[in-house]
Amino acid sequence: MVRGSNPLRPVKIYLFFEETAFVEHPLRFLNLEDLLVILVMKRTLCLKSPKEEGEKVRKLLVKLNLLDVSVKIERNKDHLFFPLLKKPNSQEMNKIGEIKGAEICFKTFKTPIRKPKGFIESLENEISFEKLSSLPHSFDIVGDIAIMEIPPEFSSSEKELIGNAILETHKNIHTVLAKFSKIGEANDVFRTRKFEHLAGEKKTTTVHKEFGCQYKIDLSKVYFSSRLSNEHNRVASQVKQGETIIDMFAGVGPFSILIGKKVDKVVIYSIDINSDAISCLKENVLINKVEKQVIPIHGDVRKIIPDSLAGLANRVIMDLPKSSIEFVDVACLAIKPEGGVIHYYCFSQEPSPEEKAIREITSTVEFFGRNVVKVLECRKVKTVAPFTYQIVVDTLIE
Ligand SMILES: C[S@@+](CC[C@H](N)C(=O)[O-])C[C@H]1O[C@@H](n2cnc3c(N)ncnc32)[C@H](O)[C@@H]1O
Repeated sequence: MVRGSNPLRPVKIYLFFEETAFVEHPLRFLNLEDLLVILVMKRTLCLKSPKEEGEKVRKLLVKLNLLDVSVKIERNKDHLFFPLLKKPNSQEMNKIGEIKGAEICFKTFKTPIRKPKGFIESLENEISFEKLSSLPHSFDIVGDIAIMEIPPEFSSSEKELIGNAILETHKNIHTVLAKFSKIGEANDVFRTRKFEHLAGEKKTTTVHKEFGCQYKIDLSKVYFSSRLSNEHNRVASQVKQGETIIDMFAGVGPFSILIGKKVDKVVIYSIDINSDAISCLKENVLINKVEKQVIPIHGDVRKIIPDSLAGLANRVIMDLPKSSIEFVDVACLAIKPEGGVIHYYCFSQEPSPEEKAIREITSTVEFFGRNVVKVLECRKVKTVAPFTYQIVVDTLIE
């Protein structure tokens, strides 16, 4: 029974077998695979019948409501074994007795491991089918906080049910919030939104883990999206030793800190106008031990870059999709005279959202006296509304 070399912690577990006493089993020498094999065995009462009578027996057991459908019917060369939910009463036994060769016995069955219920499934008896079908089946997770988007037709008590269902089905979630406004409706410059508490601990602060980094985030005060994690990693993976980077709209630091973690000989100026974002960023710099690489700066890029960072950057990150275009002059000023890379983020609509984004950044860079030598990459980052996307354009400029 003991396979592999991955022993579990020395704990005891009680294995329950129907119709038998429970067994105390020391897990010290078992690995997870063994444990699952043990747990999925179920000794239960069954009806054994000759193969030829199988269909008749199955129909009868279904009719009598005796068949245990959580367990698979088993067979050997001549017989079928039907797991039973309970011992048949005398009337039921009379009917069973009419089947030639059928007899009651005990057997150990393999039971399928049931997938844990999702939160939607666990709400099926609480909220109408029509309403449930309008509820998104997924939610964002930031640290131990789940963030749901709930359509307006749901009542407060239904929202609470949804929150509790998420808590029950996701043990790593301790708070459930619902989006209460669009991004930017709490503070347009800071790009924050309002939330409504649905269930669990009443808090908006958490620690989110992404690509080996940890970020302290207060969702009520700063912008953060866990949907951008691949984008943070994509940009960080391009950075080479010796670069100077300006993260113009740094937030709590998911680009800057990951770059600092990946590359030791870099300097990253991480600017944000939101003092709460900079407070989180400063803590995150310490938590992730990137004090040597990341320099948090509180203020407006329109003032900070011309005053102290002009002509310094090999790479500029412009993650303010709603209004990056208004800061392209500052980004051009930040790039070294010999050139560098701008990661330009914007929102763009069908048709041809990528082409529009490329045209927009290219013409604006040229308007401010620099040239786009090459578009290194252009891609959709995420969908933000029907036919509307967040787009990134990586441009090499001189
Ligand atoms: C969309 S968030 C991006 C945050 C971060 N890059 C991330 O991935 O989580 C944009 C950030 O830009 C900041 N911001 C807006 N205008 C600014 C300005 N003029 N100067 C500096 N930061 C600004 C906001 O406070 C906000 O934190």
